[in-house]
Amino acid sequence: MAVSGAKLDLNHHLKDKQRYDPCLVVIFGGAGDLSHRKLIPALYNLSIDGELPEKFAILGFSMEDLDDEQYRGFARSGIEKFSRRPITDDQWAKFAPRLHFCRGTFTDAGSYENLRTRLDALDAEYTTAGNRVFYFAIPPAFIDTCSQGLTAAGLIKAPAEGTPFTRVVVEKPIGADLESAAEINGQLARHFDERQIFRIDHYLGKETVENLMVLRFANAIFEPIWTSRFIDHVQITVAEAEGVGTRAAYYDRAGALRDMVQSHLLQTLCMIATEPPNTTGAESVRDAKLDVLRALRPLGDEDIEKWVVRGQYGEGLIGGVPVKAYRGEEGVAPDSKTETFAALRCWIDNWRWAGVPFYLRTGKRLPKRASEIAIYFKSVPRILYNANPRAPLPPNILRIRIQPDEGLDLHIMSKVPGSQTRLQQVKVDFHYATSTPEAYETLLNDVIIGDQTLFMRRDTVEEAWKFVQPILDAWGESPLDPPIYAAGSWGPLEAALMIAADGRTWRTL
Ligand code: BG6
Repeated sequence: MAVSGAKLDLNHHLKDKQRYDPCLVVIFGGAGDLSHRKLIPALYNLSIDGELPEKFAILGFSMEDLDDEQYRGFARSGIEKFSRRPITDDQWAKFAPRLHFCRGTFTDAGSYENLRTRLDALDAEYTTAGNRVFYFAIPPAFIDTCSQGLTAAGLIKAPAEGTPFTRVVVEKPIGADLESAAEINGQLARHFDERQIFRIDHYLGKETVENLMVLRFANAIFEPIWTSRFIDHVQITVAEAEGVGTRAAYYDRAGALRDMVQSHLLQTLCMIATEPPNTTGAESVRDAKLDVLRALRPLGDEDIEKWVVRGQYGEGLIGGVPVKAYRGEEGVAPDSKTETFAALRCWIDNWRWAGVPFYLRTGKRLPKRASEIAIYFKSVPRILYNANPRAPLPPNILRIRIQPDEGLDLHIMSKVPGSQTRLQQVKVDFHYATSTPEAYETLLNDVIIGDQTLFMRRDTVEEAWKFVQPILDAWGESPLDPPIYAAGSWGPLEAALMIAADGRTWRTL
């Protein structure tokens, strides 16, 4: 089933997307990997869709020795390789002239003076009225340095009605634990007001994750059954077939819990579990999500031992091709204890979710790239069609496919056509008819229009760290190595045993 029917444009009411103030986007780390793969291709796609201000330009800022033309070459190669839609001469001709580059060193005060001069010139050229977005596509260690540099050069303007805006975008990881996250947030707060800070968790920009709110609150049929009365349990899986790749320097110090669970999985959990916010405004939505994190039952030592599992990939096969063990990957310590897989059970102690376990799992080098949320409904009574104790009916499952093949399906029971009464499970399936925007397109658009709904507020980030901190502590103190799972398998046996202890199984994806 594909999407059909009239489109209802609620953007005016929901997000005020029509209001594009002129602005300059300055990318710190503008010639880096994130810019190449994600940011520039996303901006290019926004340009195709007419979702950029008319008065708009991009300035890459980093230490490479590039002029504007060379930067355009760098941008073009990123778009050719990574853009959702192919590059065309027409579209490129519209986009390319807006790209500029300024060479600078983050630790050098003179570089910020140059930056200011350059920005003033671009402001005059594009009549961007002094509105600026500073995108920090840089390692977290530089956040404070760059903020200080901007402040010293007078480039950060406090928010005030009728004055030009300054916004800053920061990437995860925000810290490596609760303490360091609070420190980074404290550094940011010395230079920016919280209303100016856009902390990215790119999962929140994924179409299917954003759609969770619409699914729940724009339909009459889901919300009444979205409670412990009808839901048995929820599974959230984010599986990757890729290994650590070239990111060992970061990943070997982070691991799956910090890299994925603290951010993407908990944010996704919030979207499923939140109470209806009072409005679609950023603060209402973010308050409601924060309440979910605050209701998470803290994990004690015994819970961690029993209900939290880690694993590390060994050698194995991905799509029939042999791959190395994690410890054999370039840049990984040969005795590394870093987990590349994490699974856990958690509880949300509020009225709606009392007694409903949420199972979360994520890992690298699993059999395929597939992320989904599966809502398992309670079984029908053990009478009528479900009377046979040896063949219980499978439960209804609502599966929200985050990626790939974005969409959702509902598994229900139906009669097999014919004179006999035989039952079968069928799938009501919804796919998006066209390719959906990349998360970075949505998020960059929101930064430009100043909508913070899909960005993580300081308190939310710290609350999520509070939940995972006891696990980090327990694993940090443990002399044990994480169990090894074969690359291409669904993680260590311990993960299957964990959920089996509750009489349940992980969904096969
Ligand atoms: C990033 C993690 O935040 O998300 C990576 O640092 C991970 O380790 C990536 O691979 C997954 O994102 P996606 O959009 O490919 O599911």
